Amino acid sequence: MQKAVVARVGDYQVRRCEREDVQAVININAETLPEHYSDYFYYEILAEFPDTFLVAEIDGAIIGYIMCRIEYGFSHLKRLGLARKGHVVSVAVAEQHRGKGIGTLLMQTSQEAMARRGATEVYLEVRVTNSEAIALYQKLAYKTASRLEAYYKDGEAALVMAAALGQ
Ligand SMILES: CC(C)(COP(=O)(O)OP(=O)(O)OC[C@H]1O[C@@H](n2cnc3c(N)ncnc32)[C@H](O)[C@@H]1OP(=O)(O)O)[C@@H](O)C(=O)NCCC(=O)NCCS
Repeated sequence: MQKAVVARVGDYQVRRCEREDVQAVININAETLPEHYSDYFYYEILAEFPDTFLVAEIDGAIIGYIMCRIEYGFSHLKRLGLARKGHVVSVAVAEQHRGKGIGTLLMQTSQEAMARRGATEVYLEVRVTNSEAIALYQKLAYKTASRLEAYYKDGEAALVMAAALGQ
């Protein structure tokens, strides 16, 4: 069956992740990021938030993904108050396909889906030394909301970055 493409950049296509794509997503995560999750975690997010879990592919090969959740809790943008928030749990593009706009497109397309689910802001955690990712988020108008010391297992700090959605 033809899979529904939701966005394109060059010859790359972005579409919803399907259950049979999850192993390719796990492989990209293993190659590109030190933070790994149980297989069950991916399937659970896919079942609950299928519209914000996207893959990028070229010639039928998956080379990137974004996996997000919708949460309700303290706003990262307002000083006080609660918000419906999109949470970018993980995003990655295989190294040889970077710098071609795929990360940007995955973020933008998933953010649109989060806004359709009623999220008014989006946030994520990023290693303080991950300058490529921080540059991408700044380009998308994310601002640093806080810093979490020793957030990662190896002791590195995280920045919590957040942006408004749908305004
Ligand atoms: C972060 C990541 C997803 C970006 O994906 P990408 O497809 O290369 O992103 P894009 O091509 O859309 O680039 C978006 C922006 O990121 C920044 N960027 C990308 N590569 C960069 C580099 N080598 N140095 C500095 N900034 C860079 C730039 O601001 C760029 O915008 P520009 O092209 O208009 O200058 C990718 O580098 C990656 O998978 N990294 C490893 C996994 C990771 O760290 N994920 C984030 C965890 S929080």
